[in-house]
Amino acid sequence: MTHERWERTNAYVNEVYGREDAHLRGLMARAVEAGLPDIAVDAGVGRMLKVLCSMTNGGNGARLALELGTLAGYSGIWIARGLAPGGRLITVEPEASHAAFAQRAFEDAGVGDRVKIAQRFAIDVLPELRDAHGDGAFDFVFVDAIKEEYPDYLVHLRDMVALGGLLVADNALGSGASWWIDDAPGSHPSRNGVDRYNRALAADERFESFCAPIREGVSVALRVR
Ligand SMILES: C[S@@+](CC[C@H](N)C(=O)[O-])C[C@H]1O[C@@H](n2cnc3c(N)ncnc32)[C@H](O)[C@@H]1O
Repeated sequence: MTHERWERTNAYVNEVYGREDAHLRGLMARAVEAGLPDIAVDAGVGRMLKVLCSMTNGGNGARLALELGTLAGYSGIWIARGLAPGGRLITVEPEASHAAFAQRAFEDAGVGDRVKIAQRFAIDVLPELRDAHGDGAFDFVFVDAIKEEYPDYLVHLRDMVALGGLLVADNALGSGASWWIDDAPGSHPSRNGVDRYNRALAADERFESFCAPIREGVSVALRVR
């Protein structure tokens, strides 16, 4: 598979499966215009997040969801649309300009009442959320913050995810031109963090996991015990 062929394959996935409404369409272009980086998931992954979130809690949608790394709110809007009626999404974003942009995007998309942005570092807020909500409280978690820290997030998240809940992580296989999972071990801190996370997740008997080779790779883990 050449790089060009992979790009065309992803474009096909987005064209066929990535239908967006007016709120999502153009959101990242507006974010980039406002100075935010163009590093959100694409529509194909976004729709996957919505479907996965809506499958949790016995197919009723997540009662409580968590996202690490909000950026402009693009993936958060998809996730919020997969929540149960009355469900809530907590999304973690330390960068004030990203959080402010995302807050407006959530309100414009009509999910502002369901989404709370925690303007914090993921590594600091995870133990607090675990204490506040108790183990097994989150039906759906999407990890998309600092790749080197993925293994540290997992230490908390493996207990925070509900039985039958899903732990999903972006960049399971790479990140654009910066690194890819088949690069030499030790070649990039993000590659190493994600590799450690993938291996720890796959070996954890409390989860049944797989990796979807979509875009830059998305790992999906179902909590089974
Ligand atoms: C890849 S982007 C998230 C993209 C978003 N999930 C989407 O697909 O629409 C990563 C985000 O994590 C934020 N971030 C940086 N350091 C962080 C940290 N320590 N904890 C949580 N988020 C962090 C960045 O500011 C950035 O907005």
